[in-house]
Formats: sequence, C-alpha cells, structure tokens
Amino acid sequence: MNKKMKKIFLTGERPTGNLHIGHFFGTIKKRIKIQKKHKNFIIIADNQLNINEKKNKEKNINKLITSYISMGISTKKSCIFIQSKIKELLTLEYFLSNFIDINTIKRNPTIKKNIENKKNISCNDFLYPVSQAADILLFNANSITVGIDQVPILEITNKIVRNVNNFYNKKIFRKCKAILSKNNKIIGTDGVKKMSKSIGNTISFNYTKKKLKKIIFKLKTDNNRKNVFSPGNYKNSLVFNYLKLFQKKKEYNLIKKMYKEGLVSDIKTKKILFKKIWRINKRVRNKRKKINNKFIKYIIHKGNKKAREIAKKRIKFIKKKTAFF
Ligand code: TRP
Repeated sequence: MNKKMKKIFLTGERPTGNLHIGHFFGTIKKRIKIQKKHKNFIIIADNQLNINEKKNKEKNINKLITSYISMGISTKKSCIFIQSKIKELLTLEYFLSNFIDINTIKRNPTIKKNIENKKNISCNDFLYPVSQAADILLFNANSITVGIDQVPILEITNKIVRNVNNFYNKKIFRKCKAILSKNNKIIGTDGVKKMSKSIGNTISFNYTKKKLKKIIFKLKTDNNRKNVFSPGNYKNSLVFNYLKLFQKKKEYNLIKKMYKEGLVSDIKTKKILFKKIWRINKRVRNKRKKINNKFIKYIIHKGNKKAREIAKKRIKFIKKKTAFF
C-alpha cells in the first residue's frame, strides 16, 4: 500500500465519567478490533468540557481510562492521551482557523444546537470544529470512528483541508472519513431516549450482581401478553433491544420466534439477558479491580509523551510547508 494512504485511526470523547454498554457496542468494540491492525489514537477531549464539567475533570478522566482498559482497549496498541496536554494542538488550531469562514461554522448543525439556548455565545463556541480539525490533522488521521452526529464536524475538517491545500497549492493535509458504527443509537432503559448518563437510563458493566439484576428485571416487556403462554411482540419488549446486542444472530432469531409463538416467558428472556451481561460485567469488574491511580498516571504519561513526540514533528512539517508560523 502507498505509504501516504496508510490508515490512521483517531477518535475521542469528552471525559464525563464511566462508559456504559451503549459506548461498548457503539464504539469500543470497534476500537478493540481496529487497534489490532492499525495505528489508533484516542483523545480525551478535556478542552471540550464546559466550565461546570471541568470541576470533576481529574476524576472523570480516571473513570474514562478505567472504562477503556477494563472494556478491552490495549494501552500498548492504542495511544490514549489528554487533549489539553498537547500544546501543539493549539498552535495548529490557530493556523487552521484562518482557513474556514464563519458562515460555514454558523450553518453547522452541531454548532447551531450547541448555541441554541445560550445567552452568551463566545468566540470559542465557534472554534469547536476547528479544534476538532486540529485533533485530526495533527495526527494525520484519516479514519475517524465517530457517531453520526459528528459527521458535519468532520465535513468542516475536510473543507479546511481543501482550503489549505488549495491556498498553498500542495497536499499538506489529507481528507478524513467518518467510520460509523452500526449500533449508534442504543435506547436507554426508559425505552425512549438514547442511552446517556445525564438521563440516567444506562446499563453499565461495573455493577454488582444484585444491582444488575434489579435493572434487568425492571425492563419493560410486552404489556399485551395475557400470560406467559400468549404470543408476544418482541418490539414491545426492551429486553430484545439488548438481547440483539449480546446474542449471536441465530440465537437471537430463535428467541424472537419463540417469543412470537408464546414459547418463552418474559422472565426467561430477562434471565437470558442477565446471564449475557453478567458474563462481560464480571470480566470488566475483575479488570477494574487491578487498575489503580498509579497505573492510570503511568498510562497518561506514556500516551502524552508519545502524542507530543508525533505532534512536534508534525508541526515542524507544517511549518516547513507553509512558512506560516
Ligand atoms: N467532539 C467529540 C465528542 O464529543 C470528541 C472529540 C474530540 C473527537 N476530538 C475528536 C472525536 C476528534 C473524533 C475526532 O464525542
């Protein structure tokens, strides 16, 4: 393969606490697969926290890293680093901000939503997509594993790439592509909204047996069933929403059929789901026990160091190509 075409993966999230099964099936599983074959950067986007969220920053960074590792991200294969510790990102962001017009940013759906109910809109609110472009371009990443809501942000990155390359009439940056996951929108335990910590409708992997049981057995099932032998509609049962994630296709299709024919009770479906989640939950919990603050500190130090080495070289390269700095 052409060296220039080499795939470099990058993704990240804002550190707001532990990850749940929505993240696991939405993105973490994908990263576990990617890290086996490709360069994989994971950016902890602490600059993107708002003032209130910043209060718990350290604690939440630790929780996020603990989640990553216990769910299966390898700190040897993936480079995890803290956005605010890579000063080169700001240098690049400043440069890139010259190559995008404010109207494009104002039209962006994510930005529009972010500022919708805000009284004081700051300049920095408009820099969010530029900052994210810097995250991507500083690491020469071209494969960005994100949710569908982030796609318009990546479009801005690509517009910046076009503008810079056109201006200098040479290929300085390369375009990036969103790598979307299939399970992007996992419904929460309320059965209504997307699973999200702020709503409190999550299922996590760090529960005790008792807690997990309580959550699973409270899930809504098909109310129209008169008794355990009446035919059910799996679409009315939240249990099936999650079984779909945990079961093999064949297994899942079979239980769906049995439910339709009244051959399996709701309790039984919950027991099956509980068993499936508990198996992973147990593994994750055991891993979590081995992760202490000292280890996390070491991981952060290692990740930041590697990221900065790459960043410095990259800034040098950009400087040479643009004579801007
Ligand atoms: N904005 C992203 C989110 O809220 C997180 C993020 C920061 C990111 N920098 C990134 C994602 C670069 C992909 C690439 O989820």
